[in-house]
Amino acid sequence: MSGHTHGDIDWADRLAQLRMADALDAAALAPVARRLLGSVGERPTVVDVGCGAGGMSVLFARELARGGGGTVVLLDATPKLLAEAGRAVGEVAGESVEVVGLLGDLTDPALDVPAADLVWASGVLHHVGDQQAALRTLGGLLRPGGVLAISEGGLEMRCLPWELGVGRPGLEQRLLAARASWFERMRAGIPGSVAMPYGWPRALREAGLHDVESFGALIDHPMPGSDLLREYVVHRVGWFAESAGEWLAADDRAAVAALTDPRSPDFLGHRDDLYLFGAKAIHCGRLR
Ligand SMILES: C[S@@+](CC[C@H](N)C(=O)[O-])C[C@H]1O[C@@H](n2cnc3c(N)ncnc32)[C@H](O)[C@@H]1O
Repeated sequence: MSGHTHGDIDWADRLAQLRMADALDAAALAPVARRLLGSVGERPTVVDVGCGAGGMSVLFARELARGGGGTVVLLDATPKLLAEAGRAVGEVAGESVEVVGLLGDLTDPALDVPAADLVWASGVLHHVGDQQAALRTLGGLLRPGGVLAISEGGLEMRCLPWELGVGRPGLEQRLLAARASWFERMRAGIPGSVAMPYGWPRALREAGLHDVESFGALIDHPMPGSDLLREYVVHRVGWFAESAGEWLAADDRAAVAALTDPRSPDFLGHRDDLYLFGAKAIHCGRLR
């Protein structure tokens, strides 16, 4: 079941892909969780906004369980994802970490969220119409001294060789270009969509936060890659073509159909030269 979000994406339908991405991103994001928790006090309350399948909250909970404990609040508008995140975080939380699940829309001014020492929002702000207003709302969840950290932008993942033996070389570049067109239309189609013609660090400052900084987390899974990586790449390529197919030429659509069909000799799942290489950008600021 899809929850109440602002675009026309069926988030519940994305569960398998979100879970795979969580597993593949964990090694790169564990140090990010440690770094962010190191910037707030003991026994913090951490709110994961748009938590999806809960991958980052699992890392927060693990780190808190190793230290002095704390509270992890999961907030998502999609019931199925919130339930999955609760299950995943519950498995690692132990006695010292309290886990709270909240079903809600991050733009709801009446949202009843405990005062937070750390608010984390990854890949969700770009799905609301007024991103600047949403940042202000999230900043308003912080206690004085608290940190708002968002993961937005960065370098798009690459996973395919340049030549695949089917279709024209350079398919991945064209998939990414098509996806960028999809993104543009997705943003324009969100009710109440507002332009934000500047970058996230400035947006954090506009939201009243201080000591704003950005850093990157490298996602690097070299070829030949695991079975999980192959499965993820098959999903990702199929999803790009499905969502952005109208911006692809017919021969590229045909190539993707062959690459994602387990009965095809060109099936990506049979390759030993897939990889995952990209970077997440993290931007954070503190409430004084
Ligand atoms: C791209 S996923 C990101 C999931 C996770 N944070 C990650 O980085 O993998 C976006 C998530 O935000 C949730 N979401 C989208 N719009 C929301 C809103 N307005 N309020 C709360 N959650 C929202 C979706 O249900 C989904 O779980």
